[in-house]
Amino acid sequence: MNRLASKKAIVTGGASGIGRSICKIFASEGASVVVADIDEAGSEETVREIKNSGGVSYAITTDVSSEISVQNSISEAASLIDGIDIVVNDAATFIFGEIEDISDADWEKVFKVNVIGASNVVKHALPYLKTSPSPSIVNMASIGGFVAGRAFIPYNASKGALLQLTRCLAMDLSVFNIRVNSVCPGSIYTAATEKHIAFERADRDDFLKNAAESNFLKRVGKPEEVAYAALFLASDEASFITGEHLVVDGGASV
Ligand SMILES: NC(=O)c1ccc[n+]([C@@H]2O[C@H](COP(=O)([O-])OP(=O)(O)OC[C@H]3O[C@@H](n4cnc5c(N)ncnc54)[C@H](O)[C@@H]3O)[C@@H](O)[C@H]2O)c1
Repeated sequence: MNRLASKKAIVTGGASGIGRSICKIFASEGASVVVADIDEAGSEETVREIKNSGGVSYAITTDVSSEISVQNSISEAASLIDGIDIVVNDAATFIFGEIEDISDADWEKVFKVNVIGASNVVKHALPYLKTSPSPSIVNMASIGGFVAGRAFIPYNASKGALLQLTRCLAMDLSVFNIRVNSVCPGSIYTAATEKHIAFERADRDDFLKNAAESNFLKRVGKPEEVAYAALFLASDEASFITGEHLVVDGGASV
């Protein structure tokens, strides 16, 4: 239970869903975890759950689409947990739609959070990662980054960009021994699933049944099933893996 012993991690999007699960599993494996999310109440709840289990965690309200917010949060995080070894870029905004429905504002928002946000987190965490003995970055992409989905255009395009950001960072940051990888979930039940059901105006049971039918294992995934993939990539067990993406989708994209 000490796969991240004495590591210091910052997790964006840690107030909910997959990000919360990552925070809890990282803390249970010995990491000190900063939850950086725009949702203050959700972040505090993640911290409370970690502390109740004996872990070390802090919440810092952060809007990843604002570079100044990211810069301030990283600096505060590093002083709270005495450095940064692991960055997880999990925060995302979910903007779906077909091409005629998408505005410039939609494109700007989705790229500012899902791509530029992740890039700025890495940029400002870099001075700390450079001094870490085993630094690692994990970006939460999606199978939507490489397979098409109906009416998913801005979100899927942003996840494709995040996958390429991962590969380029893996190359550029290799000189500092910083590993950079992605996790690509398929259909995982979280608050984002409910947003998607509302967007589609779908019947909830039918939507979840169809999501389950779309993969070999015939069920929707759980946040912790993604969090364990992030744990592996963030840990020293993945010490020779960089620029890679790990798919967690029950076989949906095979
Ligand atoms: N749930 C799925 O089926 C699924 C599938 C593929 C990929 N993903 C990815 O997994 C990650 C987590 O998604 P989730 O399903 O847990 O959704 P979620 O809505 O539960 O979590 C997203 C989190 O991001 C935070 N966030 C949004 N905008 C932010 C901002 N500007 N600054 C800081 N935080 C912000 C939210 O407050 C929330 O806590 C996302 O990157 C998502 O794209 C999810």
